Amino acid sequence: MTTVPVTRALFDDVMVPNYNPQQFVPVRGEGSRVWDQDDREYVDFAGGIAVNALGHAHPALVAALKDQADKLWHLSNTCTNEPALRLAKKLTDATFADKVFFCSSGGEANEAAFKLARKYAYDNFGPEKHEIIAFTQAFHGRTLFTVSVGGQQKYREGFEPVPGGISHVPFNDIEALKAAISDKTCAVVMEPIQGEGGIIPADPEFARAVRELCDEHNAVLVYDEVQTGVGRTGHLYAYEGLGVTPDIMTTAKALGGGFPVGAMLCTDKVAPSLGFGTHGSTYGGNPLACAVAEAAIDTINTPEVLSGVADKRAIFVEELEKINAKHQIFKEIRGEGLLIGAELIDVWHGKAAKFLAAARDAGVMILVAGPNVLRMTPSLIIPEADIREGMARLDQAISHVLETETAEA
Ligand SMILES: Cc1ncc(COP(=O)(O)O)c(C=O)c1O
Repeated sequence: MTTVPVTRALFDDVMVPNYNPQQFVPVRGEGSRVWDQDDREYVDFAGGIAVNALGHAHPALVAALKDQADKLWHLSNTCTNEPALRLAKKLTDATFADKVFFCSSGGEANEAAFKLARKYAYDNFGPEKHEIIAFTQAFHGRTLFTVSVGGQQKYREGFEPVPGGISHVPFNDIEALKAAISDKTCAVVMEPIQGEGGIIPADPEFARAVRELCDEHNAVLVYDEVQTGVGRTGHLYAYEGLGVTPDIMTTAKALGGGFPVGAMLCTDKVAPSLGFGTHGSTYGGNPLACAVAEAAIDTINTPEVLSGVADKRAIFVEELEKINAKHQIFKEIRGEGLLIGAELIDVWHGKAAKFLAAARDAGVMILVAGPNVLRMTPSLIIPEADIREGMARLDQAISHVLETETAEA
């Protein structure tokens, strides 16, 4: 039997081309460091796009996974299981929510949230009340319903017709929402900080006014905390920092620390509308996923980890400002906690991907949020030494881009 070499080139041969992964293939990770097939080491500021909140191979998560692997992997929802029940209890104890629906991804959690919002309005006010208002540049996932509620046309293009009854208004513009909302609105959907849209935090005053408008019109408020949740902002969930309580909230990404799991959380008021048989997911509440997520929540929902987020952010910002003092490359450094966005100055707009590639070559993994913003969503427990080392590499990468571009100009 011949063995095919497993290289990055194989990706182009055997995978659908919807992704264009980095040119190296990681094989191992520990904490905030990752090694590739050639044993080259990288500092990880990407954190699997806000997923690896405890870094790679965290002992508590590895132990939970191994322990559950010896006991019970899967049942489907014909039976419940202990890890799912324990996790649901922890999530409801730690948040505004009374009830939980488990699934396997953020898009799936949002799909459940939007369906529940429609069904709650249908059950209580009739079919006319079905309109969903969301925000320009928002990102809620890649299913047909979630790209439709998402505020970026490029993700819908070519997939039409998309579900109807959905409109978009500019984020942080309360007058625009006032003009659009009516008694036909069943839900307003927002991210507390727009992630993919460029790391744009909701203005707290705007967030409070959205809540009031929802109440005036009997519309439910849905918070998509897929990226902002599970400690990312220094709160367990970002709504706490805004001082606004939603009716429905979605969470995924960091919830499993790298194991696929998502959840839709809601109040007792709306939960009955997802009655028996109305919705489901084969893997939702999978015991392996819930056991790992329970360990992730137990580890993250502690004063040490949550308060450490602000300290680590301060080091990131200090280092980014140092880089900026040297290169004058950033227009603004924004975000909250360890959801960090550094917007490039106007002349570099459209070129964020160049910096990402140079960072990779210099040995640091970063992300972009759209074409103008460098994004970092590292482990919440990244050691200071790794932040400093990764920033030294980012500095080199930026120098390299600036030199090459000047040379090419
Ligand atoms: C705010 C937000 N919602 C939803 C999603 C979709 O999550 P998933 O890719 O797990 O379906 C993402 C993913 O980036 C996200 O950032």
